[in-house]
Amino acid sequence: MSLVLDPAAQDLLFREARTANTFTDEPVTDEQMQAIYDLVKYGPTAFNQSPLRITLVRSPEARERLVTHMAEGNRAKTATAPLVAILSADNEFHEELPQLLPHFPQAKDAFFSERPVREGTATLNAALQAAYFIVGVRAAGLAAGPMTGLDFEGLRKEFLDDDHTPLMVVNIGRPGPDAWFPRSPRLAYDQVVTTV
Ligand SMILES: Cc1cc2nc3c(=O)[nH]c(=O)nc-3n(C[C@H](O)[C@H](O)[C@H](O)COP(=O)(O)O)c2cc1C
Repeated sequence: MSLVLDPAAQDLLFREARTANTFTDEPVTDEQMQAIYDLVKYGPTAFNQSPLRITLVRSPEARERLVTHMAEGNRAKTATAPLVAILSADNEFHEELPQLLPHFPQAKDAFFSERPVREGTATLNAALQAAYFIVGVRAAGLAAGPMTGLDFEGLRKEFLDDDHTPLMVVNIGRPGPDAWFPRSPRLAYDQVVTTV
């Protein structure tokens, strides 16, 4: 009774949503990806800095190059998912800040003139956006398979540049046969929450 979100939506986004390890052949369209982005872009980031960048790996040739950077146990699902996205943090996000924070354009120089500061905040905020992205994939009725078992430096050199920090690779599609491992338990409220 404490949650106002429709229970079916709660199930879709969290209780029934699982991390898929296999997928059907049904394609994931650019229209679906656009709808997902246009929903999750409203998730909050510090100073509205919005550092997440998404690389959709669509061509078979790019997919082959990506698979070589995945850990052995992640290769088959990365090779067969209908769509794979590389999520990265843009360490030069401050260039967009005057557009994203029009009421405080001075923030770009006042807070983000130093690269190490930008790298730290970009990684945190892009990781937040990656979580919104995963939930957005679920909101589209699709399953996400996020993965960090991969060669990050190899991935960066292959698909990105020094201004981008790769965060994870996400398989996207409709779950196939035997798509899930058994659901693992979660920590209970009392194990996680303290009140001071
Ligand atoms: C950031 C992140 C990295 C992950 N990396 C991998 C991975 O490299 N390989 C893999 O098989 N699963 C990976 N997973 C999947 C998790 O093990 C899975 O989401 C978690 O156990 C919850 O599973 P459930 O959604 O089915 O309950 C990753 C998940 C996240 C969020």
